[in-house]
Amino acid sequence: MKGIVLAGGTGSRLFPLTKITNKHLLPIYDNPMIYYPIQTLVDAGIHDILLVTGGRNSGDFLRLLANGKEFGLKHLNYAYQEGEGGIADALALAEHFADGDKICVILGDNILEKPVADAARAFEKQERGARILLKEVPDAERFGVAEMDGDRIVSIEEKPKKPKSNYAVTGIYMYDGTVFDKVKELVPSGRGELEITDVNNAYIREGTMTYSFVDGWWTDAGTFESLLRATNLVAQSATPEQRAKAAED
Ligand code: G1P
Repeated sequence: MKGIVLAGGTGSRLFPLTKITNKHLLPIYDNPMIYYPIQTLVDAGIHDILLVTGGRNSGDFLRLLANGKEFGLKHLNYAYQEGEGGIADALALAEHFADGDKICVILGDNILEKPVADAARAFEKQERGARILLKEVPDAERFGVAEMDGDRIVSIEEKPKKPKSNYAVTGIYMYDGTVFDKVKELVPSGRGELEITDVNNAYIREGTMTYSFVDGWWTDAGTFESLLRATNLVAQSATPEQRAKAAED
């Protein structure tokens, strides 16, 4: 399976922190935000990775990450997103890279305590379709929310005012090669973006969507509150040795 990290967008909810840099280059405790999703893919055994970004600071990613040596990689792939067309628009740029293979997509501001290796293994065995990762949260209205019927997902609503469950759809998505045909059929949402939720609903309608639950904590980091939360969670879960080293550096 190949990995794709989506790290575009304007980061408008974090203005003025994002006035002169990309959201995904901001610090989360002792590392730039973008390190965490890359590490999550690597920990799931995925070594063929594409980073999609854009905007004025896109060159900084190349300087920061280079060929991915920090993560034990020999090579990293990059794609440039023109404009701000949304998550699914960024994903469309990965079609050539995916070349029909299964992909694991992770949003560049999603940070997890534990690896997603079990879900990745389950998806490898899945003949076709998609797999998403759910997490029970107290503030589901901030996310894509799964409407459940027993243990089946009936549909996903993007940031509903009245969530039909407490299960947030996290920003880790596994797709088969048909995802790019589904992206081509999307129409922009009310906020003028191609929504990843609409891609997921296409798989649900097809009857090929499965899910796993996230193990350990999960957070995004795209607002001031969640950025602080992410930093605190990472700092608290660092080992005493890691914390001592961070203090020395
Ligand atoms: C995006 C997705 C949303 C998902 C969330 C996870 O929201 O649209 O469905 O739950 O990521 O982090 P955004 O953070 O771009 O508003």
